[in-house]
Amino acid sequence: PTVTYTQPNGTQQTLQVQEGTTLMRAAVTNGIDGIIGECGGQAMCATCHVYVRPEYAQALPEISDDEDEMLDCATAERLDTSRLACQIKIDAELTEIVVDIPAGQL
Ligand code: FES
Repeated sequence: PTVTYTQPNGTQQTLQVQEGTTLMRAAVTNGIDGIIGECGGQAMCATCHVYVRPEYAQALPEISDDEDEMLDCATAERLDTSRLACQIKIDAELTEIVVDIPAGQL
């Protein structure tokens, strides 16, 4: 599967990732700017906030209550497409995804 991260300036980086990896973990491991993952993926910090391109949204699991609350605390504006990257796991259903990283999330 591939994950493409888009920086606020439009630069894109595409990674090949293993099934079972989260979008946060893949970003942190590969040094993608703007995804911090301070809480280690517990849906408790919102430093992994991303905007998922709408065409991929339906392949994702529902937003849990924890994720929902944390998204309200994110630094950048919450949009309909907002998700926590640590709550999105690459699996057989999700073979490709493109996300935008909010500006100012460093
Ligand atoms: Fe902390 Fe995702 S890593 S909320």
